[in-house]
Amino acid sequence: MKHVSRRAASLLTLLCLVAGTAHAQARDYGRQEYESSCAVCHGATGKGDGPLGAFLVRKPTDLTTLAARNGGTFPTQRVAEIIDGRSAVEIGPHGPRDMPVWGRIYLEQAIENPGRMQIGPEWYVRARIMALIDYLARLQGR
Ligand code: HEC
Repeated sequence: MKHVSRRAASLLTLLCLVAGTAHAQARDYGRQEYESSCAVCHGATGKGDGPLGAFLVRKPTDLTTLAARNGGTFPTQRVAEIIDGRSAVEIGPHGPRDMPVWGRIYLEQAIENPGRMQIGPEWYVRARIMALIDYLARLQGR
């Protein structure tokens, strides 16, 4: 009996460890990506005060006012196009933009570094959910 309960205890410990690991792996992909790719220019809080901003011709924008500057609605489609940058948005009236073309960078990384594709399925799920949210947001108030 004592043996069984010790076994149960170690099983419980194992379950806790697994649960703990699973919890630690529940990553905030958006935040992770923002902090590693965007914060250097747009700042840790998104206000546009990242350390690299001082070296650019154009000041990185305040990303916390995107909805406010669009009548209170987050401009999902426009923001997606700006971040991607592969469409005509890339070249503005004042020449090439200072912001990297993320659509090209992400595509190159996906093709050249298969190791990155290990988190592919989760990105795929998130991308489809984000696409749905985008669509539902556009259905509001119709
Ligand atoms: C090298 C600096 C730099 C990095 C890194 C950078 N940006 Fe930018 N971003 C800019 C600049 C500068 C602008 C202003 C427009 C321009 O000159 O291209 C801008 C504009 C934008 C805009 C348009 C905002 C508006 O007010 O219309 C969005 C959205 C944006 N960035 C999102 C991002 C995201 C998301 C990332 C990370 C994936 C990122 N940026 C990384 C420099 C950067």
